[in-house]
Amino acid sequence: MCGIFAYSGPKSNAPETVFEGLKSLEYRGYDSWGVVTQPGESSLQPKSLVVKKRIGKIGTNNINELPSSHIAIGHTRWATHGKVTELNAHPHLSCDGKIAIVHNGIIENFVKLQADLRASGHKFVSETDSEVIAHLLEEERKTSDLPTALRNVFSKLKGLNAVIAMELNSDTLVATTNGSPLVIGIAKGEIYMASDPSALLPYTTEVIFLEDGVIAIWSENMLRFASTKTGKKLEPTSQQITWKAQSAEKGAFAHFMLKEMHEQAAIIRSIAKKAESNSNFDYKKLADRIKKARHCYLVGCGSSWFIARIAQYVFAKIGVLITPIVGSEFLEAAPALSKDDFLIVLSQSGETMDSIKPVKLAKKSGTGIGALVNVPGSSISRLADITLLIEAGPEKAVATTKAFTATLMHLLLVVKAMDEKLFSKLDFNKVAYGVERALSTAKTTQLDRLAKKFQNDEHLFCLGRGVSFPVAQEAALKVKEVSYLHAEGLAGGELKHGPLALITEGTPCVVLAPNDETYADAISGAMEMKARGGFIIGISPQTHQVFDEFIAVDDLGLGTIFLELAVVQYFGYALAIAKGLDPDMPRNLAKSVTVG
Ligand code: F6R
Repeated sequence: MCGIFAYSGPKSNAPETVFEGLKSLEYRGYDSWGVVTQPGESSLQPKSLVVKKRIGKIGTNNINELPSSHIAIGHTRWATHGKVTELNAHPHLSCDGKIAIVHNGIIENFVKLQADLRASGHKFVSETDSEVIAHLLEEERKTSDLPTALRNVFSKLKGLNAVIAMELNSDTLVATTNGSPLVIGIAKGEIYMASDPSALLPYTTEVIFLEDGVIAIWSENMLRFASTKTGKKLEPTSQQITWKAQSAEKGAFAHFMLKEMHEQAAIIRSIAKKAESNSNFDYKKLADRIKKARHCYLVGCGSSWFIARIAQYVFAKIGVLITPIVGSEFLEAAPALSKDDFLIVLSQSGETMDSIKPVKLAKKSGTGIGALVNVPGSSISRLADITLLIEAGPEKAVATTKAFTATLMHLLLVVKAMDEKLFSKLDFNKVAYGVERALSTAKTTQLDRLAKKFQNDEHLFCLGRGVSFPVAQEAALKVKEVSYLHAEGLAGGELKHGPLALITEGTPCVVLAPNDETYADAISGAMEMKARGGFIIGISPQTHQVFDEFIAVDDLGLGTIFLELAVVQYFGYALAIAKGLDPDMPRNLAKSVTVG
């Protein structure tokens, strides 16, 4: 969940480079941040590394007081152990201030390690589990070089962790991981390390995704790799990232969320074009595995789970039963897996621990694994047998929008590879145009006005039927995570089984009423809510007298769900803006949920 960035090389502004890297990784955690570097010549503490840490977002902070240096490490935190304080922020130093570390993960046995270190005289300044690494390194360093010290320390840590370490008066950077993402960016005579490849784009596109159990050592202008366990030399191959640097920047948009919503039409067009030319998407391979499977499961968390739920309805239309299961419940909810089953995992980041666990279980059971992920080289993409990169480009806003659309579209194309008929009328170019229209100024002005009207409400309900039910759930998730307004996505038929009790005078009720077999029932639900005082916001190709506000979308059959999505995504965004919130970095959340 945390963001890690490190640099070593000829640039004398390493702290600044790292600070900029942290800004681009901040979506991974924004409770607090910190940068460590070598002391300057005029430093009052020449015997110690120097650190700047602050709580809160990076915002307009700077690191002007840090000296120029050729090496630095930085970290943005999403707190797990210990409150959000400056002392708990990374980097952490050893007692003598000569070793600094940043860490992502959870050290399960830190209490015991800490007690032993305390007993041998180490003083802890933070409440974090991470700090034990700095003290353990200090002990090991008495008898070994830094890489060996890190290897020895890592063997003592339980849990899934990634660590980068540096030391006083040295250009050496060492990094290792088991289960937390770390990417090495290679450029001439210098090295970058980050927890996400998008942060490396301004500097290099040549990367090595650090495999679990591998240590990367940058020393004296040389990059080496070895097994963390045995120290045996390894030679991983580098790969090129095809993402463009601009795609990870906000450009003229006020927020990443807004920019990413607006990228959706182009993404739909690009996927449709590639699908037509049959280039490099593995729809057939996935379709064959689904057809042959005894049971097929679709797994995801949060929005990715709602994509799985939408897909369930679409697969059902061609007579195929697939079971969507939320990642964190898979182990309990799914029957024992076998070789005859197939599991498809959906994950933008490819790093969500709750989705990785079912994948690991499937691996153990010999079950085939398909994956739809956005981040190349991510853990899930490496674990799966068939990985389909969704090619949405870097997604920076914590709330997913374009990755949702891209994943959903690829899944529809998998269904299409199994049965063309359902899609005979679905024209993705029209869908792309419809998304543009759904996000046109006329529509967004209407939604901004509604957001102002409801910004102080406590509850919002979103109603959908059939394939629009999980869209309604996604709408509610978008609204609550970025605007903190309590929102619930409901199946229309469920209203009278309980939720109606919550509808009072003026309660905002969003009703998804596509022009399909669910239209009449959607309108009935709207009537029931209206009769209890609900303010009905109808999203539909056709208006109805029950709607207090009508948001028109094009009538594109199954493709209408993409337009519903665009509207509800923007509504969530507009509510956040009306309330003066930052939709890109909602409170308590982080983009890549690497802890389970
Ligand atoms: C909501 C959102 C989250 C993610 C979830 C899974 O807008 O973005 O609910 O969908 O954390 O993340 P991935 O898809 O990276 O596994």
